[in-house]
Amino acid sequence: GGKRMGADALLALDQGTTSTRAILFDAALNPVATHQVELPQHFPSPGRVEHAPEELVAHSVKCLRGALARGGAEAARVAGIGITNQRETTLVWDRGTGRAVHRAIVWQDRRSAGICARLRAEGLEALLTERTGLLADPYFSATKLMWLLEEVPGLRARAERGELAFGTVDSFLLWHLTGGRVHATDATNAARTMLYDIRRGEWDEDILRALAIPRALLPEVRDCAAEFGETDPALLGAAIPIRGMAGDQQAATLGQACFAPGMAKSTYGTGCFMLLNTGDAPVRSSHRLLTTVAWQMGGRRTYALEGAIFVAGAAVQWLRDGLGIIRTAAEAGELAARADPDSGVVMVPAFTGLGAPHWDAAARGAILGLTRGAGAAEIARAALESVAWQTRDLLDAMRADWPGMGTTVLRVDGGMTASDWTMRFLADALQCPVDVPAVAETTALGAAYLAGVQAGLCPPPSDNATHWRRRVRFEPDMAPEEAARRHAAWKVAVGRVAG
Ligand code: G3P
Repeated sequence: GGKRMGADALLALDQGTTSTRAILFDAALNPVATHQVELPQHFPSPGRVEHAPEELVAHSVKCLRGALARGGAEAARVAGIGITNQRETTLVWDRGTGRAVHRAIVWQDRRSAGICARLRAEGLEALLTERTGLLADPYFSATKLMWLLEEVPGLRARAERGELAFGTVDSFLLWHLTGGRVHATDATNAARTMLYDIRRGEWDEDILRALAIPRALLPEVRDCAAEFGETDPALLGAAIPIRGMAGDQQAATLGQACFAPGMAKSTYGTGCFMLLNTGDAPVRSSHRLLTTVAWQMGGRRTYALEGAIFVAGAAVQWLRDGLGIIRTAAEAGELAARADPDSGVVMVPAFTGLGAPHWDAAARGAILGLTRGAGAAEIARAALESVAWQTRDLLDAMRADWPGMGTTVLRVDGGMTASDWTMRFLADALQCPVDVPAVAETTALGAAYLAGVQAGLCPPPSDNATHWRRRVRFEPDMAPEEAARRHAAWKVAVGRVAG
């Protein structure tokens, strides 16, 4: 690491599923300026989701420039850029031209379900889980890469000749921001490919062989706080060192300063991702949670258990766009507050199947317990409650997998934390306090923090967390017996839709 003369700002680039944003932070990690651009989604056929590679790059550059301009900062003032990104999304590009050979296959894309079934039939899932902490699910990069190698004519031969590069979005952006000079990723993004041995911290030769993935495609794996190269001076007015990198959920875990084992965060976007810091040893889940790398610094990995649920904010979007019972997301909480709390209406938002701990891709949503008294308010309430109950199921699975979790405070972030009603109900459902931080942009904050650590501006995670402050805490208010009774009703409803 090392300080740059007079450089006291940090720049985070957060390339997410539905938008790209850059945030300029001061050295104390206060956000100073933001620039955001929405990302168009491509749905070529049911179950397929793609992003245009040129847009990933162009929007990133635009946002970095925009945040610098709005913050009135010269590039020379920036001590480092931290990149964080939607995870698992898969790209392959030409090392000569930088051009992607296919649109990015997004993490939500299910096209490799058949390949996953094949891997399970070949008896490979135990090896994959053992080495990578993941499950043979299309969610992860490996089978998306296999699909490209199998379906795009000529690709395998070119890959074997070393003409192509594979990477997740972090790698692809790094390549382009450095003018094609660096092909690298970080341990958290590598951990989502299903090709990386999270225990040993290296690409797994056995898996590469079993999946027929040419080694020549893979990026070098670095720490999350590291020297990743400098931006092409033509892009931002001057060369800026890229010094931080992590997948967005891991970055949010750092932004939430979940530095000690037992600390957990949950991010409520379209879906919800909950990560529990389990310290320096990976914990194997018996409840179909994922084992993943929380961060790697100084060559040492900190691990996490992760639960992913596919529908959180998407349930509110559905109330607005599908049902039309609210006009803005903010109205959901107000409507829910007017509902009969004892209506018995339960909603299971399995619009795209169920994620952890069920992993039932075939499940579909349901609203149960309707009576003549049930109306829009009861359905809105059931939708918001479903987010809380899904979180409760993840928390219960984590506690069962890792008894060290003990008493917990859950740190939350993301769009849905703006709803006090939802956060109050979440505390009731979890029967534990829920903390909302002062800086809502925890993902970008985590990326800036990593760059700050590498630049010598921020203390490493072992020290006291100086960048986290609470905005508000919600304490549970519901009696434990009542929470248990309502949770039981939720579980019955899930049982009706899950296979
Ligand atoms: O694993 C997918 C996750 O990283 C996506 O997060 O916030 O871009 O939807 P987000």
